[in-house]
Amino acid sequence: MSGAVPVIAIDGPSASGKGTVAARVARALGFRYLDSGALYRLATLEAMRRRLPLTDAEALARAAREMEIAFRDGSLWLDGEDVTEAVRSEEVSAATSRVAASAAVREALLGRQRQFREAPGLVADGRDMGSVVFPDAALKVFLTAEVPVRAERRHKQLMEKGMYAKMSDVVEDLRQRDTRDSTRPVAPLKHYPDALFLDTSALSIDQAVGQVLAWYRESAPR
Ligand code: C5P
Repeated sequence: MSGAVPVIAIDGPSASGKGTVAARVARALGFRYLDSGALYRLATLEAMRRRLPLTDAEALARAAREMEIAFRDGSLWLDGEDVTEAVRSEEVSAATSRVAASAAVREALLGRQRQFREAPGLVADGRDMGSVVFPDAALKVFLTAEVPVRAERRHKQLMEKGMYAKMSDVVEDLRQRDTRDSTRPVAPLKHYPDALFLDTSALSIDQAVGQVLAWYRESAPR
């Protein structure tokens, strides 16, 4: 779409490294960065704080519309409180993939996500950035890694935060989230044919960032 603010959509499963890669690509290009998973996590925390049953789609969608959120220098704020740590807890992570399966919640968050599209460009990471939220993205990437590699990365992250976790539980949790995210009827996580496939199992972050930048330069109209 000529004239529109360019978007690079990076979709993929959790712990694939897409968040790190997307943020680095955004920095290299001077683009804004949207961590759409954070919006789903914030909506889930809001729902938990309102003690909503995770099955009440309408109430969840209302919470997603009404919550007051802010992204400030890498921290996340909900209703005036810094919740950067809270939204990353395993409890919120597990509940988020249930809340995100609701079509009403997804609809409620659509406008908020599209508001991130500002000149000179946007790098958006999630599950449905290229398929639903920004179907006219200039570049779509499906970024993944093999389950043992992703489990290793998640395990390392948790240990660094001082949170002990058994490797077998980490693997099981990733598998369950993958299944929920890829089998839901609305906006499932999927490698769509128009997205370029990037397996980062054997790549460093620098190599993955370099590949996305190279693809973007090839795709950008001159
Ligand atoms: O990317 P992250 O792991 O933070 O996402 C948390 C959860 O939010 C995912 O497991 C998924 O269920 C949901 N999500 C989604 N669509 C997006 C981004 C995240 O359904 N675009």
